Amino acid sequence: MSKVIVFDHPLIQHKLSIMRDERTGPKEFRELLEEISMLMVYEVTRDLPTEEVEIKTPVSIAKGRMLEGKKIGIIPILRAGLGMVDAVTTLIPAAKIGHIGLYRDPESLKPVEYYCKLPIDSENRLLLVLDPMLATGGSASAAISFIKARNCTNIRFVCLIAAPEGIAVVQRDHPDVDIYVAGLDECLNEHGYIVPGLGDAGDRLFGTK
Ligand code: PRP
Ligand code: URA
Repeated sequence: MSKVIVFDHPLIQHKLSIMRDERTGPKEFRELLEEISMLMVYEVTRDLPTEEVEIKTPVSIAKGRMLEGKKIGIIPILRAGLGMVDAVTTLIPAAKIGHIGLYRDPESLKPVEYYCKLPIDSENRLLLVLDPMLATGGSASAAISFIKARNCTNIRFVCLIAAPEGIAVVQRDHPDVDIYVAGLDECLNEHGYIVPGLGDAGDRLFGTK
């Protein structure tokens, strides 16, 4: 069974509370999503392998550690996952970026795919799949299945808010994919929205309806 890592850091919880507030507009919402994503990336990458290096300082030789050349790819699920991309590339500028386009059919709540382009050399990368919302889990599970169908095996899912239902679906379908989440909420309502959640993440991020 995969791990679920819930972030209880005060900075993350503070920022998430502001994001949930219905009075928070798109500008602040975007900024907060980026800030929280950056804080999360710090933890998501904690176990990346490093190797010892020797650095010539102006004074002498220092032994230090640097990333072991592990390649990273990030794959936002369109649209709302786009709001998490800049945070990752700020910290990991060499990361390659793919995109998976999915929307949730409002009637069936099933994911509909409209785009999929993965980073070059994805099979050899640690892939971070980004989407602020894990509700029924249909979108996340489908996105991870698309990625696995292209021979990728090292995948982590990073989201802002998850419902227990969505976590159960991803764990059932992808027991090898760890889930990183800033807020674990109560349930879904009859429209498949996370309760209490923050509403429609894509609409709040981009100012659409
Ligand atoms: C939202 C969200 C996830 C999905 C989660 O996207 O960003 O991708 O819903 O719901 P699920 O777990 O029940 O699949 P949406 O379908 O609203 O598309 P959008 O980002 O283009 O607005
Ligand atoms: N997608 C969202 O953006 N919000 C939810 O609460 C559920 C799905």
